[in-house]
Amino acid sequence: MKGIILAGGAGTRLYPATLGICKQLLPVYDKPMIYYPLSVLMLAGIDDIMIISTPEHLPQFETILGDGSAFGISLKFAPQPRPEGLAQAFLIAEDFIGYDPVALCLGDNIFFGGGLSGVLTEAAAKASGATVFAYHVDDPERYGVVAFDGDGRPVDIVEKPTRPPSSWAVTGLYFYDNRVIDIARAVRPSARGELEITDVNRAYLEAGALSVQRLARGHAWFDAGTHESLLEAAEFVHTIQRRQGLQIACLEEIAFHRGFIGLDHLRDRQRKLAKTGYGLHLAEVIREAENVPGFQE
Ligand code: DAU
Repeated sequence: MKGIILAGGAGTRLYPATLGICKQLLPVYDKPMIYYPLSVLMLAGIDDIMIISTPEHLPQFETILGDGSAFGISLKFAPQPRPEGLAQAFLIAEDFIGYDPVALCLGDNIFFGGGLSGVLTEAAAKASGATVFAYHVDDPERYGVVAFDGDGRPVDIVEKPTRPPSSWAVTGLYFYDNRVIDIARAVRPSARGELEITDVNRAYLEAGALSVQRLARGHAWFDAGTHESLLEAAEFVHTIQRRQGLQIACLEEIAFHRGFIGLDHLRDRQRKLAKTGYGLHLAEVIREAENVPGFQE
């Protein structure tokens, strides 16, 4: 399965913070925002990923992330000249996707919660159709919204409705089979001039091929697109990391546990980051690995 992170857009809602830097590279507490969606795709087992951003911001991503080898993955980069909608990602990435299924994660979406890896791996393993995730919110009118029938089956999906049919927002993480390229090609610009991802999801819904997973109580989802939500996300990451001594979106740790990198590679990365909480955490991951019974260098 291929992965795409869409990290473009003008970021005007975060001015003046984003006058000189791309929104998805702003820190969310201790790491760049893009680490979070990258961690989600890697947790799903995806190691071939394309990052799409504006032509002016793309070089910043390349500088920070390189070709992905630091995390044992392959990263490619492609420009989106104008923010013409989320569904355009599949047209830009058409050659990269080839005949594979694909997952898209928005560059400003942050997910955290027990059991998330399992939920993601399951979605990635589905042979056909689409899987999206719904999250209960108190301001559904800001999002794509999905309505369910009495048996919990999705019956309708609408973008930013003035009268939301439910309180279930569709998060910015989508898993599709290869049909998504043809479906995206058939989407026409909406009233606001964008190729809407909600139209792609509606096409799957109408074909009886849309699975909507409701994220359970206790899962956290942030769309860090405003100053308020960016601060909330940073506070959340800080609290969990400090209280539990765990790292959220520690890419080297995920890469190691997923088998994308080995212990020597992990040690190299740890040395580079040694002076930070992130580096101390990597040292802990290394110690744990060395203490596994039967461990041999
Ligand atoms: O966050 C989840 C929501 O994301 C979904 O519930 C909605 O259905 C979906 O349309 C989207 O809504 P947003 O209002 O958050 O979309 P926005 O236009 O803000 O774009 C989301 C991110 O994608 C943002 O960081 C900018 C980037 N983007 C956006 C567009 C339209 C691009 O990189 N290219 C684009 O063409």
